[in-house]
Amino acid sequence: MNFEFNEEQLAVRDAARDFAKNVLLPGVIERDEKQIFPKEEVKQLGELGFLGMMVDPKYGGGGMDTVSYVLAMEEISKIDASTSVVMSVNNSLVCWGLEKYGSEEQKQKYLVPLAKGEIIGAFCLSEPEAGSDATSQKTTAIDKGDHYLLNGTKNWITNGNTASVYLVIAQTHAEKKHKGINALIIEKGMDGFVVGPKENKLGIRGSDTHSLMFQDVKVPKENRIGDDGFGFSFAMKVLSGGRIGIASQALGIASGAYELALAYSKERKAFGTEISNHQAIAFKLADMATEIEAARLLCLKAASDKDNGREYDISGAMAKVFASETAMKTTVEAIQVHGGYGFVKEYHVERLMRDAKITQIYEGTSEIQRIVISRGLLKQ
Ligand code: CAA
Repeated sequence: MNFEFNEEQLAVRDAARDFAKNVLLPGVIERDEKQIFPKEEVKQLGELGFLGMMVDPKYGGGGMDTVSYVLAMEEISKIDASTSVVMSVNNSLVCWGLEKYGSEEQKQKYLVPLAKGEIIGAFCLSEPEAGSDATSQKTTAIDKGDHYLLNGTKNWITNGNTASVYLVIAQTHAEKKHKGINALIIEKGMDGFVVGPKENKLGIRGSDTHSLMFQDVKVPKENRIGDDGFGFSFAMKVLSGGRIGIASQALGIASGAYELALAYSKERKAFGTEISNHQAIAFKLADMATEIEAARLLCLKAASDKDNGREYDISGAMAKVFASETAMKTTVEAIQVHGGYGFVKEYHVERLMRDAKITQIYEGTSEIQRIVISRGLLKQ
């Protein structure tokens, strides 16, 4: 097994690191506090090619591998998880889904501007009563011959207001349960499509999370992704890759908090010496670094599985459950290392702790990841 990164992967990592430090860091506390979407920052991220990293260059993407994506996600998330969730959803849920399963017309019309970062996409599966229980879709897409009539409500949609293109999962043939579900491409501005109010969240407060309402929205048949009834499989396939992105986000949140705690512990003095010289602190740092390294290896293993055509449902779910739990533990400990300073915003670690929590919830809770892993293992 090769543990070395190639030159291209290292260049991507360094570019993401520089961008995070120079562009994202200066306004990150204010954006979090005032819930400001990182509009200009996301535009620049797109110009640098970070919004369609893995898409084939012939569709406007960067043609990079998933390992590079993990490295970039870690660096961006160390500083600003509100920006990295935009990046993750656009790359792994929207672009990947369209590239893998969209028609050539859909790719030309939607994937190209999405991959170039000219527009942003959203993935719309969750509903008021169907988050984890994703087969119980209440949103309906009734077949009307040349179009579908879309009705329903979606919840917790990342990029809810900023997106121009929405991949919406809806039930067409209720009697067929998950085999009757379709995935439809909806454009902002279609008649009957209304963006609901913005959620006031604990973490990733710079990101743009909304409910969406669809009332008799006429969706042309050519906007369906794949064959009739493919929508649930589409959602599951897309989420398997998405989980690698969120695992890398969690990894970045954890490593960002660890780096801050390490630096602080080498400066702050107590009882006549730097606090890093006290085992009480040094052992915390040792545990953090060990768990982060394990999370990183799981993320890279899942990415390598995907890049090499191996199954990655289980490895992606393992990476997500472990990295998100590591992010939560590490950020709590990083605050503890900082003492009272960790409790105030200027030191960043309290924001990282609030941001960490969502990684245990979205794109499948930790409990869902354990279902995916255990069912996968039992099938082998
Ligand atoms: N690939 C392809 N097909 C899959 C699949 C996969 N990875 N996983 C399951 N399926 C198929 C199954 O094979 C089955 O099909 P058949 O009957 O034809 O064999 C079908 O899907 C139903 O599978 P299950 O019987 O296992 O379904 P279930 O209802 O018991 O639950 C689940 C499956 C794994 C729990 C699934 O519902 C799930 O992943 N839920 C969580 C959804 C989720 O992640 N929601 C988060 C919202 S998205 C988000 O957060 C985006 C954002 O904005 C950041």
